[in-house]
Amino acid sequence: MADADIPSLIRARYGTAADFKVAGAGDSTLETLLRHRSVRHFLPKKLPPGSLEVIVAAAQSAATSSNLQTWSVLALEDTEHKNKAATLCGDQDFIRQAPLFLIFCADLDRLTKVSAQHGLRGKGLEFTEMFLMASLDAGLAGQNATIAAEALGLGACYVGAARNRPQELAELLKLPPRVIAVFGLAIGIPDPTKTTTVKPRLPQREVLHKETWYAGASEDGPEIQKENLAEYDVTLASFNAGERREGVPAWTQRSARRIETVESLHGRHVLKEVLREKGFNLR
Ligand SMILES: Cc1cc2nc3c(=O)[nH]c(=O)nc-3n(C[C@H](O)[C@H](O)[C@H](O)COP(=O)(O)O)c2cc1C
Repeated sequence: MADADIPSLIRARYGTAADFKVAGAGDSTLETLLRHRSVRHFLPKKLPPGSLEVIVAAAQSAATSSNLQTWSVLALEDTEHKNKAATLCGDQDFIRQAPLFLIFCADLDRLTKVSAQHGLRGKGLEFTEMFLMASLDAGLAGQNATIAAEALGLGACYVGAARNRPQELAELLKLPPRVIAVFGLAIGIPDPTKTTTVKPRLPQREVLHKETWYAGASEDGPEIQKENLAEYDVTLASFNAGERREGVPAWTQRSARRIETVESLHGRHVLKEVLREKGFNLR
């Protein structure tokens, strides 16, 4: 890998000529973060030995609320088992291609056992807060796993579709009550013939608010936001043209469609009921 050029990586991240002054020298972690792109084409090869263990060690290195560690991960490497999971996770072929499919779970089962071990009731586990905490913990672990995989030269793609058919996936994985898959992560050796490019994000001024919402310009806020979004529509359109992706609607239009109907949730609209059935009381 060539020496890190952090300013040019930051420019690629926003897809504009914006000139960022970068404090201090970049290190390789920053480079890995800024180089991120989802990989959906993998070589039909196993991961180097030990990869799974290093990736999970990195995942466990993430901060975790009150050190409660309310998450678990299932590693699927058996082809038949992984293919069944792929079918339940939006039938996405890259999951079948990947030699490793990790499924990150919010896990309140362990703390249920810990409470019982000490003759306590674990009433706190019945509240929405604990599901949110477990999902956040799982998310942070998943992101550490992603960065670790990328640092090892591997490619990865998250799979939110692990929530499309949560009961069936729970059955396949034999999950106990109070454990639910929150997302998957397909990991493999990237196919060098299918290179991917850094996908630009929203302008930083659209997500970064200094001190107050839109820096206190509340009446201008929506106008500024409109400009930011219009700019991003142009940036992403030019990215898509470069990727030869014809006919992709503008980001604002595509995003609006993604949340337009119940159907656009791909089955996830029943999640609250499923969580209740699975023992997440969500009070
Ligand atoms: C929680 C989460 C779930 C995702 N689920 C899927 C998925 O099911 N299928 C897929 O192809 N990509 C999925 N992605 C990848 C996003 O589409 C991708 O991160 C986004 O388009 C930005 O592209 P980039 O990661 O290459 O920068 C998911 C990403 C996240 C964070």
